[in-house]
Parts: sequence; C-alpha cells; structure tokens
Amino acid sequence: MTRLLPPDAGGIAEAAGLLHGGALVAFATETVYGLGADARQGRAVAGIFAAKGRPRFNPLICHFSCAAAAFAEVEANDMAARLAALFWPGPLTMVLRRRATSRIDLLAGAGLDTLAVRVPAHAAARALIAAAGEAIAAPSANRSGGVSPTEAGHVMADLGGRIAAVLDCGPAALGIESTVLDVSGGRPRLLRPGGLPMEAIEAAIGAVSRGITPARPELAQGLRSPGLLVSHYAPRLPLRLEASDPLADEALLAFGANPPAASLVWNLSDGGDVTEAASRLFAGLRWLDARAPALGLARIAAMPVPMAGLGAAINDRLQRAAAPR
Ligand code: TXA
Ligand code: MG
Repeated sequence: MTRLLPPDAGGIAEAAGLLHGGALVAFATETVYGLGADARQGRAVAGIFAAKGRPRFNPLICHFSCAAAAFAEVEANDMAARLAALFWPGPLTMVLRRRATSRIDLLAGAGLDTLAVRVPAHAAARALIAAAGEAIAAPSANRSGGVSPTEAGHVMADLGGRIAAVLDCGPAALGIESTVLDVSGGRPRLLRPGGLPMEAIEAAIGAVSRGITPARPELAQGLRSPGLLVSHYAPRLPLRLEASDPLADEALLAFGANPPAASLVWNLSDGGDVTEAASRLFAGLRWLDARAPALGLARIAAMPVPMAGLGAAINDRLQRAAAPR
C-alpha cells in the first residue's frame, strides 16, 4: 500500500521518518515529482533503481535544502558558487566533483567521481529534505524510460504499491525536469536542457558547450550523461514530430491557437506560450496515451514548438519520446 500524505507539518514529518527508516517516498518539486531515498543508505538507493526499473549505470540527482548542504558533498568552484547564488533554489542541477569525505552512497552516483546536486524551489520539498537529514537522492518518479510525473496521481499510476508514500502537493508548477549542467571542470557543458533556460545561464556565465545535441543522437552512446539515452520520456503510443496535419488514426498534441481538427486533441498552449506548454507536456502525453486506444487511434502527432526559452527542453523531450525504442 502506498500512502498519500498531505504537505502539512504532519505529512512532512511522517515522510521524513519514512525516508530516515530507509523507505522510498515520492515528493513534489517545482519541476516534476521525484522518487526520494536517503542518499547515504545504500539499500534505500538500490530500492530506487528496483522500483523504477532503472539501469544502474544511470546516476541520480541528490537534493538538498540549501547550497551549503550541497557543497558539503561536492567541490564547489567559483562558477558553481556563482550559479548557486543566482539560480538556487531552482530548476538547475550541477554536476560537480564529489568530495573525498562524502558519504553519499556510491550507487547514487553510479560509481562516477562526480555527483549531480540540486536545491529545488519548492517549500514542502525543502522542508522534507531538511527534516530527513539532507541528501535525498531522487530521480523522476516514473517507471524508467516513461513519461515524468507532474501530479501525485501520475506517481500512483506508475509506482503505486512499490513505494511507501507520496507527498501530494498538487500539480508541479514548471512541469519539466531541471537543466543539468556539468561544471566539474573546464568549460561548462549542458547535459540536459530543462526548466532553467540556457538564455538565462549564458547571460550569467557566458557560452556553455552543448556537447551532445539531439541532432547527433549516436554520440549519446558514449553515455556522458545517461539521461541522454536516445529513447526516453516515451508514452506508450508512437509519436510523430513536426506534424501540421494529423492523420485519421492520430491523436494531436497541439500548440497554438486554432489547431487542425483531430478526434482527440491536447493543446499544450492555445496562446502559444512555451512556459505554459512545458507545464502541460507530460500531463498531455499521459492523457493522450490513456484515451487514444479506445478511439482506435494508433499514434500521437505533435505540432512544432518554437525553440526559445523552455521550448528547447520541450523539443528535447519530444525528440527522445519519438526516438526508436
Ligand atoms: O527536475 C529534476 O531534475 C527531477 C527532480 C525530481 O529533481 N529529477 C530528475 O532526475 O529528472 P532523473 O534521474 O530523471 O534525471 C537525472 C539526470 C539524468 O539525465 C542523469 O543521467 C543525469 O541527471 N546525471 C545524474 N548524475 C550525473 C552525473 N554524475 N554526471 C552526469 N549526469 C548525471
Ligand atoms: Mg527521469
């Protein structure tokens, strides 16, 4: 039985107690729901990989309530300190060198000498992390390879019965995962576009190397960051990109005013706003996935979304969702 806990003082204390005892608890952040475990308990961390069906070579993000707690585990260089001051709490994950003294379980970092750290901008999440003693390892709370959860109900549908509890904080405000930036040395490098737009990061620290781009997916096979796995974030139905005219057997993932007609439509933003579209992307993929088969629809056609701002992250997720599986 997976319990739904309210995000009040009692619910947070209960969730913290469960984490402390080595159980798995999903909780909301401003990006998506995470599946949390105490990052210092190897058995608990291993439980995350088992519950998600996640390959063990794919490292987890460690979540902290403040930058000081994060920098106790990783070596903060000047650039990391600057980014933390500007963008934490918020949807930025930094990959940094792990401190020799860190007691974060090695499996959380998949055995790498770096660790991904983040301070979420969500009051209940930070209260939970602090109450549980900091260092909560948390990937998105979905089955591996599937669509990330933006509501407690999505977590229940994917992981109900496999985890102890979900701290239900309602829909996640941003709806798309954090931007992952490698600042462990040398030139900063984008590992995953996400909720903090690159325009904001580059305005602060100058040019960031894009490394592996979705246009060269074969390069992802080197697995510099395993979240760059080509097929990821995928609904059950196949997805067709850059579609302007849905076919008779397609559901439509629309963007903008007056989309073409289709028998099943989820509009990401009828006002053409990429920030609204990001917040409605994963819920929309799940909604279409659930309803299309009963209508005899075999595929999702996705309309083009512009690249500016959160559009880069939306297009990254759509391309991975459409990649061969
Ligand atoms: O918004 C988010 O980031 C959410 C919430 C829950 O915080 N979490 C999330 O976690 O999306 P996950 O596990 O689904 O994605 C983590 C990404 C993966 O692409 C992983 O490969 C990458 O971060 N990553 C983690 N540690 C890394 C490391 N040491 N080096 C390179 N990439 C790393
Ligand atoms: Mg994920």
